[in-house]
Amino acid sequence: MQNIYEPAYVKNLFNKMSGSYERMNFITSFGFSIIWRKRFLQKLKNSDSQIEVLDLLSGLGENWKTLQKKYPNANIHGLDFSEEMVNKSKIKNATSFQNRINIIQQDLLKNQLTSNHFDFVSCAFGLKTFDNSQLEILGKTLELILKQNGEFSFIEISVPKSPFLKNVYGFYLGKIIPILGKIFLGNPSDYKMLWNYTKNFSNCKETKLIFEKYNLEVKYNSYFFGCATGISGRKL
Ligand SMILES: C[S@@+](CC[C@H](N)C(=O)[O-])C[C@H]1O[C@@H](n2cnc3c(N)ncnc32)[C@H](O)[C@@H]1O
Repeated sequence: MQNIYEPAYVKNLFNKMSGSYERMNFITSFGFSIIWRKRFLQKLKNSDSQIEVLDLLSGLGENWKTLQKKYPNANIHGLDFSEEMVNKSKIKNATSFQNRINIIQQDLLKNQLTSNHFDFVSCAFGLKTFDNSQLEILGKTLELILKQNGEFSFIEISVPKSPFLKNVYGFYLGKIIPILGKIFLGNPSDYKMLWNYTKNFSNCKETKLIFEKYNLEVKYNSYFFGCATGISGRKL
């Protein structure tokens, strides 16, 4: 059986979705992704110093505008391993960011980043495609790359606790989104996969426990009745 957490499988999935990802991201969250994105980034302190900021699993650069506002003098880096996502984000970097974002095409699970280097690390909607052993690697990597007292904030679409919301959201993501996926992409199974990942992931509680093993102070955050959850904190 196919291992859906195999990096090659995940990369291929995002390569295929890259053309429609931005629109679908907006639709899958009922437009909430824009609000959630702002709110999870608010967990990080602002700074106008010349610092190092890393946006993990940066996709098409959805976080960069807000990060640039929060950190006007920072070196901002975005990391993603999907060639197609990276190629599209390079175009955005040229047209909207004067090529000021340093884009790193790399598998996060094979960390080649500089240790004790980053002041702030952000990551939106990228946790669900990792299994627990990969989340362990991620926690360890975060500990390694953050400076002492360096801050992080992650967010992920989650399964809400309330049975009503769970059913509505599950129906929407599991049934309606694949149809929209077909309209936008011609392949509903790719978008159905996202809901499968979300169902397995559930919420950020387990990730919190995993990250706490790695010299990180971790706080659990819930957004809109648990339709998205996150973790934020700092390296001790
Ligand atoms: C759901 S998208 C999130 C994109 C963006 N952060 C956002 O806010 O919409 C997840 C991204 O993580 C990337 N990704 C998944 N696993 C990765 C890994 N092991 N290393 C690097 N990038 C990875 C995928 O290529 C994809 O672009």
